[in-house]
Amino acid sequence: TGMFTYDPGFMSTASCQSSITYIDGDKGELLYRGYPIEQLAVNCDFMEVCYLILNGELPTPEQKADFDRQVTLHTMVNEQMQFFMRGFRRDAHPMAVLTGLVGGMSAFYHDSTDITNERHRHISAIRLIAKMPTLVAMAYKYTVGQPYIYPQNDLSYTGNFLRMMFATPCEPYVVNDVVERALDRIFILHADHEQNASTSTVRLCGSSGTNPFAAIAAGVACLWGPAHGGANEACLNMLEHLQANGGVEKVGEFMEKVKDKNSGVRLMGFGHRVYKNYDPRAKLMQQTCKEVLGALGLEKDPLFKLAMELERIALEDQYFVDRKLYPNVDFYSGIVQRAIGIPTALFTAIFALARTVGWIAQWNEMLSDPEYKIGRPRQLFTGYNSREYKKA
Ligand code: CMC
Repeated sequence: TGMFTYDPGFMSTASCQSSITYIDGDKGELLYRGYPIEQLAVNCDFMEVCYLILNGELPTPEQKADFDRQVTLHTMVNEQMQFFMRGFRRDAHPMAVLTGLVGGMSAFYHDSTDITNERHRHISAIRLIAKMPTLVAMAYKYTVGQPYIYPQNDLSYTGNFLRMMFATPCEPYVVNDVVERALDRIFILHADHEQNASTSTVRLCGSSGTNPFAAIAAGVACLWGPAHGGANEACLNMLEHLQANGGVEKVGEFMEKVKDKNSGVRLMGFGHRVYKNYDPRAKLMQQTCKEVLGALGLEKDPLFKLAMELERIALEDQYFVDRKLYPNVDFYSGIVQRAIGIPTALFTAIFALARTVGWIAQWNEMLSDPEYKIGRPRQLFTGYNSREYKKA
């Protein structure tokens, strides 16, 4: 049946109309609501970017204060979530835990099922943005066997998250400005990225009319994979493995493996479906990496040197030039996160935390679209035609 357009991987299918994020992959340009990512990264904090992505405009100081207040009203999670958490093994991957916890929140907010009510949709959006740091920090504390730290609402969104991650009840905890700014920048750079796999998943899942916690849990699940949000973890593991096996000296040998299609080895943190030029987020991340390592006295970080060397070689190598493969956002984000004390297994959960605003804004945009329909792709059938039953 030739009625359908066959487009594996949706390489050339626009699945929706959207006014949130614009990417020009050839130029390496990324805009949230028309504002270049480079300008937002230096002028805004993550809460302003969340407001912009959700509402379409940057907030006035009054709107910003009101938004901050709304978010802080929802930073706690129901105490029952702690008992839910206890069902997991202590060595569970944080993304397994997060997928469960986010979906599990459906059980607590029955008003979220009324997706036709704009006010309920707004409260669900605020709840998700507010609670994600609490859940990610809980997932971390659980794996290290430390008590959960409750949110402290007089801190910034990112400062509060750092405190929930790293404070213990036995010592005062002071948020380090450099660390806070670096993490806030990571959040800004990951906030939205138009119709990537996890966002498309949220839209498809949400198109059935399911509640937003269920739809975002589907997004978290999709993000986990190494071709998507799992690349930051995979990239750092790759760098550590390389460092432990010869470091810079062995980069050439490793690159040969990457170029050998039979090896199954990819240069993680490189390549992108849309960017055929330098990912603008990777540029900002590399700069943040330099700043953070400098401020924390880690200028000699061997993994950063290794990453720079891999990049230098790749950008000159015909294999990468021909295929227009450049570093993506995940190439340097792991090094920054590692420098500020975030364990590798948590990197993708940090990405999920930051992308939540994009997911929920895209979900809300879909439900507000008069042309919105359940997503239901077709197929090119390649199996048997009808045949008679015969005992085998
Ligand atoms: N290392 C080596 N070769 C690569 C890489 C890489 N990282 N990425 C792409 N290629 C090659 C690929 O083998 C193919 O070669 P050929 O044309 O000879 O068969 C060509 O480049 C095109 O790649 P593709 O897999 O057809 O491209 P895609 O658009 O389907 O995949 C991608 C995009 C991001 C999944 C892929 O580049 C990749 O696997 N990169 C590594 C994982 C990664 O860093 N992912 C993070 C993406 S950005 C942030 C996010 O979404 O989380």
